[in-house]
Amino acid sequence: MMNQAPGAQHEPQPQPVSPGEPAPFVYVTRAVPELTTSMLAENLPGVRIELNPLDRNLNRGELVESAAGCDALICTLADDISATLIEDLGPSLKVIATYAVGYNNIDLTAAKNRNIAVCNTPGVLTEATAEVAVGLMLACARRFGEGDRLTRQGLFTGWAPLLHRGHGVYGKTVGIIGAGRIGKRVALTMKHGFDCEILYHSRVDHVDWENDLGAKYVELGELLERSDFVSLHCPLTETTRHLLDAPMLARMKPTAILVNTARGPVVDETALVAALRERRIAGAGFDVYEHEPALAPGLAELDNVVLLPHIGSATVETRDKMGRMCAEAVIAVLTGKEPLHRVA
Ligand code: GLV
Ligand code: GLV
Repeated sequence: MMNQAPGAQHEPQPQPVSPGEPAPFVYVTRAVPELTTSMLAENLPGVRIELNPLDRNLNRGELVESAAGCDALICTLADDISATLIEDLGPSLKVIATYAVGYNNIDLTAAKNRNIAVCNTPGVLTEATAEVAVGLMLACARRFGEGDRLTRQGLFTGWAPLLHRGHGVYGKTVGIIGAGRIGKRVALTMKHGFDCEILYHSRVDHVDWENDLGAKYVELGELLERSDFVSLHCPLTETTRHLLDAPMLARMKPTAILVNTARGPVVDETALVAALRERRIAGAGFDVYEHEPALAPGLAELDNVVLLPHIGSATVETRDKMGRMCAEAVIAVLTGKEPLHRVA
């Protein structure tokens, strides 16, 4: 384990520095699996690696103060990598590797203009995130959250025919919004595991799940009107921000459950709280929030929601793979090679 006490720096094994070439400086905005820093140390002679020693995200000023002058930045989805931040980090920055698949928090245009490579971690978190989406569907339909609270409070006084009934998942209609890898994994699981009918909607019209999956492509409104479960798997872009606003939420069935493991701002969270409170939809399972980590007023008071702390990719296996990919991206760019997963 590396030392992450405040102020600590990770000291890699001393490596020969090629004459004339200054040792690279890599700044990492949150503690990451140890293999990330050990890979950097092994592959980048003389590298200076600095980690945010605090158990929280840094604000803009702290980020600039800590990371200015870096050659590579390993950041997370919680860091706002704006054009001005990129500017303030200075001219040596060559690569931003985000410890995430989503990259809506990074100003890609600013990075491109400065010829900074931006790399993400696609593929390795597909199953992990799909597990959370499917888990949230089950948890909401069968009311796990309420059941857990009731049992802990000593209110389970014995089996009863009418106790804590939910609704089944088997054979229901699942609407998937966003037809990428994660959406497809959720669709496959619900189809093969629960015999569900799959509807899907995506901006990308070349995606064909009809043959693969027997899924049916429908317009967003129709998907919302027909689905018993709606699961979000689209990226956050200017087009998908508030994709599910009050009028769209109003098209869902009063028995339907909404699951969001994508990005919070895809849903108008205030409108969602109103819809849930008035039982215009039956429930919601959320892993992401519009103003993360803050929750919309009233959300946490509702019984018909299951709320998770953005843990879609949070398995030991996946987080190691993501750490490896970030290190590989930084090593590639700093050794003059093309990184594998470049988004800008
Ligand atoms: C998680 O939300 C990610 O984008 O990796
Ligand atoms: C992310 O990996 C996606 O394509 O859904």
